[in-house]
Amino acid sequence: MELPKIGDRRGDLTYVESRRHIPFDIARVYYLYGVPTDAERGAHGHRELEQLIIAVAGSVELVIDDGHSQKSYTLDDPTKGLYLCPMVWRDLRCFSSNAVVLVLASHPYDERDYFRDYLKFKRAVAESERQLP
Ligand code: TYD
Repeated sequence: MELPKIGDRRGDLTYVESRRHIPFDIARVYYLYGVPTDAERGAHGHRELEQLIIAVAGSVELVIDDGHSQKSYTLDDPTKGLYLCPMVWRDLRCFSSNAVVLVLASHPYDERDYFRDYLKFKRAVAESERQLP
């Protein structure tokens, strides 16, 4: 998602408003930093959580998997956010040494919302598709 940018000779400013730039109310903000360049994070999916992920400094690669196919995105621009809907598996890797990754989330932290096992995630995707009308 393209985020607004207000720049002048003092530098740049980007802001995000719930329900205007992103389709959910922000209940939580967290950020990843000091991540070793050979570290991988994520490796989970969420049942209900929506998120916007922004590399506010440096860059990171995100691999998104909806249970059928994978797509890889490089985030390296603080004016661009990647929106993640529920039921997608995400892997974060190739953090640059200076990366700061900001995450805006629709719910407070709740471990019960996580899929940490990829096979269970795949089974839940198949199950939710069976329930579609
Ligand atoms: P984890 O979800 O494994 O991080 P990542 O997805 O970046 O690899 O979370 C790491 C630890 O931090 C884990 O013990 C849960 C805890 N945590 C919180 O307490 N609150 C939070 O908002 C988040 C995102 C994680």
